[in-house]
Formats: sequence, structure tokens, C-alpha cells
Amino acid sequence: MNLLLEGTITFEGDGAFYNPRMKLNRDIGVAMARSLGVSDYLDALSASGIRGLRMAKEGGIKKVVLNDISPRACELIARNAARNELEGLEVCNCDANVLMHSRHFEAVDLDPFGSPSPFLSAAASSARSYLFITATDTAPLCGAHLSSGIRKYMARPLNTDYHREMGARVLLGLAARELARVDKAMQPLLTHATQHYLRTYLRVCKGAALADRCLQEMGYLEHCFRCGSFHLLAEPRPEGRCRACNEATTLAGPLWLGKIQEQEVIGPALEQLQGNRPAEKLLDSCAREIDAPMYYDHHSICERLNLTPGKIEVLLDDLRSRGWRASRTHFCGVGIKTDAPLREVEAAMIGAGGGQNL
Ligand SMILES: C[S@@+](CC[C@H](N)C(=O)[O-])C[C@H]1O[C@@H](n2cnc3c(N)ncnc32)[C@H](O)[C@@H]1O
Ligand SMILES: [Zn+2]
Repeated sequence: MNLLLEGTITFEGDGAFYNPRMKLNRDIGVAMARSLGVSDYLDALSASGIRGLRMAKEGGIKKVVLNDISPRACELIARNAARNELEGLEVCNCDANVLMHSRHFEAVDLDPFGSPSPFLSAAASSARSYLFITATDTAPLCGAHLSSGIRKYMARPLNTDYHREMGARVLLGLAARELARVDKAMQPLLTHATQHYLRTYLRVCKGAALADRCLQEMGYLEHCFRCGSFHLLAEPRPEGRCRACNEATTLAGPLWLGKIQEQEVIGPALEQLQGNRPAEKLLDSCAREIDAPMYYDHHSICERLNLTPGKIEVLLDDLRSRGWRASRTHFCGVGIKTDAPLREVEAAMIGAGGGQNL
């Protein structure tokens, strides 16, 4: 038998799905659950059980339910729990939607094959305080497979320079609407795009008025494929025109346009991840992002303006000195998050000598 090790858990992986590349996702999940003080947790789609087992042992969660529709996976989870001397765990062999429609948990974690969309409605009704979601269907979410994105998320994504954040905001938009249907509001605590997946951690609160307020954070975006400008809208408008160049724009949405990172929550999770360099780097970058939807791609702007790229930090300082907010973003190594319109960013790039004409 082939035994694997991840975190503090030794486990059998044969007979269920196990992706070692998701270790970083699980490392961060454990740190978030631990720093939030989660005490009652459902791993709705468990496979080998590695996520829920780590949550129990390293996350210090007292009540962990591990569920999978596959009887074979459930046998494996039970053996893996025993091997790690983790008692008091509950293993369930249910359809996750049936389980989540019949029971409530403080925290619900969705880590499906592909899209979490088929599970979001039940998870919204089951989660009392937290909902953690992984999505690996980045092509539909980010606009590369348009009709599939519209079907799964009831929103129109766009494949732009900032497609990774577009995907995150399409996913968050569906979560906000599913929660609102059951009179719940959400507050995204941490959202990241890593490798082939998106991951978000939501705080959930019950209350019709809170849900109404939460829905006010939804909106639309119109993008100009001629000059690269984008504008946020509260309501969609037909046949929009670019405010910068007057070209016809393309509409995306509905999207979550509210905050996606909470520094006060990410900070304590970071402390749990001391020594885990990739996780520290990622969370540090998320915590430093300013609250401004989407970003510009430094290299794309340089290409359009025929400039050689200068240092991004110099450009960010220049934008700040002009009164705009600006930061890097974990979504893209050459991304610039700012509340400045594209024309202002271009002016800063030309004016600051951030690039030279070729
Ligand atoms: C991507 S794997 C989960 C990986 C796991 N969370 C981890 O971190 O290693 C998805 C699992 O969902 C299970 N599954 C698929 N549809 C399900 C359903 N409707 N209800 C419960 N489990 C389901 C599959 O059997 C599979 O084991
Ligand atoms: Zn334009």
C-alpha cells in the first residue's frame, strides 16, 4: 500500500481523488479555519478526507464531518481517520446537496471537480457562519468559455487582461445571490487565484436587511477592447460607449464589486503560516491589495504605448503622488490595481519616465 504524507496526516490516497498540487490551498484553509476559531466544519466533497482530516488535527476543529458520495471514498476516509488516531469524526456517504439541505454547519467547505455552482444553493442554506469555496472551472469563470460561464454562473464574464479577477468576481457574485435567496449576507475575507483554481473564504450572516445591503455590492462592468479602459456600473446599460475613446463597450456581469480581502482576517492567518513561504507570499500580497475592482496589465499598456516597461513600484509611487490609490495584485505579476482611469495611468507612465519610447 502506498502511504502519503501531507501536513501532519499520513494517509492512503488510492481509491479516491488526491491532488498534491492543492496542498497550498489546504495549508491556507487550515490556517484560516484555525485563526477564525471554527469549531464545526463540513468537508462536503471529501475524497480521501485529507482536507477534513487536516482541519481536525492542524486546524483544531472539534466537530468535523467528512462527506463523499462514493462508498469507496468513505471507506478510505474511515481508514485514514483511524490511521491518524482521529476519533469523533463523522464520515457521511451522502449526496452533498441532500446533506447540506438537511443539516447546518458553522463552516461549509466546497472543493468539487470543476464548478461549485451545483452545490452553492444547498451550501448557502447549510452554512451558519462561514462558506469556503474552491472552483477549478477557470475557463468558464474567466470568460474563455462564454456560454458555459453564463450557464453555470448566470453572469456574463469577459476574457480581458484582468480575467483572473473577473472569474473571482463572477464566482463571488453567484455566492452573494445564492446566500441572499435564503436571507443571508456574505463578507469575503480572503480570495485568491492560484495555478488552475480560485478559492474564496466568506463570512456568512443571517438577516434580510443585511442580505439587501450585500446585494448593493453587485454591479456590472463595461470594457473597451479598443483602448483597454473599463468602467463599473450599478445597472447594465445597453450599447455603452467608452468614456475614454467613445468606442462601443462590452458588458460583463452581474459581478461582485465589493471588497474581496479583509486585512484584519488575513493577518492572523498569516501568523499561522510562518515558515510556509509560498503561502506567506500569497497572503501577504492579498492583504496589500487596495480595494479597487480589477487591474491593468503593465505590459499590455507598454505594448499599446510603444514603451519599454519601467519598474512597477515607481509607477505605483507616481500614481499615489498624483492622489490615486495604487497597489500590486496577487492576480497578476505585472498587474496594477488602482482607482485611476487608464488615461491617468498612461499619463503617469509617460510623464514619470517609467518607460522609454522604443
Ligand atoms: C475534487 S474531489 C475532492 C478533493 C478533496 N476535497 C481534497 O482536498 O483532496 C471531489 C469529490 O467529490 C465527490 N462528489 C462528487 N459529486 C458529489 C456529490 N453530489 N455529493 C458528494 N460527493 C460528491 C467525488 O466522489 C470526489 O471524491
Ligand atoms: Zn476605449
